[in-house]
Amino acid sequence: MSSADPRDLTHPSIADLRKRAKRRMPRFVFEYLDSATGTEMGQRRNRAALDAIGFMPAVMRGEIAPELETQFLGQDYALPVIMAPIGMAGSIWPDAERSLARAAARHRIPYCQSTVAASRPEDTGPIAGPVGWFQHYPVRDLEVRRDMLDRIARAGYGTLVVTVDVPAESRRERQRRAHLDLPLRPTPGMIFQMATSPAWSLGVARHGPPEMKFCLDYVDRNAPEKFEHAGRLIRGYPDRDDLKELRELWQGPMIVKGVLDPDDAVWLVAQGVDGLWVSNHAGRQFEAGPAAITQLPLIRAAVGPDHPIIFDSGVAGGLDILRGLALGADMVALGKAWLFALAAFGETGPDHLVNILRADMAANMAMIGATRFDELPARRIDVDPA
Ligand SMILES: Cc1cc2nc3c(=O)[nH]c(=O)nc-3n(C[C@H](O)[C@H](O)[C@H](O)COP(=O)(O)O)c2cc1C
Repeated sequence: MSSADPRDLTHPSIADLRKRAKRRMPRFVFEYLDSATGTEMGQRRNRAALDAIGFMPAVMRGEIAPELETQFLGQDYALPVIMAPIGMAGSIWPDAERSLARAAARHRIPYCQSTVAASRPEDTGPIAGPVGWFQHYPVRDLEVRRDMLDRIARAGYGTLVVTVDVPAESRRERQRRAHLDLPLRPTPGMIFQMATSPAWSLGVARHGPPEMKFCLDYVDRNAPEKFEHAGRLIRGYPDRDDLKELRELWQGPMIVKGVLDPDDAVWLVAQGVDGLWVSNHAGRQFEAGPAAITQLPLIRAAVGPDHPIIFDSGVAGGLDILRGLALGADMVALGKAWLFALAAFGETGPDHLVNILRADMAANMAMIGATRFDELPARRIDVDPA
């Protein structure tokens, strides 16, 4: 076995990136990135359900050269892999949004920016170019909503992702124990954590303190609540009429993220939504719901074989991507993993993660005897997660 990148020997998996990232960022930041809600059962259920999906190994098939390129909503991508939206990514790792947009453009995979990012759409749209998607949390004020959509489109973002699975704030107890809330009131412990994370602190010094720039553009900075969570100040909680209005307002492809119920999926397709993103927000919102992967085949069955579907929540490597594709997804997204990669190795971290995913997918497809993704469902079996 030979490996061109030494990190392939020292950090061959997402779990290794997570471990290194944890050491390089303040604890309260890591807790924001890594925590789920409640007892974190939702996160564990995602993992257990993924582990129960197996494939029958194939032998005597000669050499397998898997095709990893794909098409989604009329566009070619190098891999069926997406960078999911991460709120305040720039606080997890300084200037994360621009680094991730650059990496996505380099590797020709979608980069989806969050509404509550630490960058404006104008900062990243030109970098991401055709692989840029923008995630929208519908805001209360209709004028603001329209202006936001206008700016997103003018910044070059072609695809809108509307997230619907945050009908309320979740408690995320681990985050609370780390004293993380906005306005941020640094405790002596937090100051110590920052001081002992020099790479992170130097990055913050260089790029400035992270804030929700896009949302803050719509918040009166002279108001007493100016240090509040800007996203919270302007956020609305969308109903079906909001979805209809957004569909009318947005001219390009529109994807709805956070769909778990097949009935919702059918309704959304009937409204002309171009893609469905099956996700339980990685167990960050509600721990008593089903694993996202459990709902994926039900939603695929409900909307038929051709409607574009994305899956995420708990993907820990290339094999999980194949599991998602086998159960009906066209593309699979990862959230935390990109930030682990960036925090672990800076600008080149996401390149290493792409290499991990690519190699892992290719090796596992050979084991399964699949050259193309559409051959995966026929090889899928249930296995004992053991
Ligand atoms: C720190 C963090 C912030 C997130 N912020 C957003 C967000 O602003 N908008 C959104 O639609 N999803 C958000 N998500 C959910 C991700 O887009 C994605 O659905 C999830 O992270 C996928 O699971 P994974 O992290 O296990 O890969 C966030 C996730 C994390 C971990």
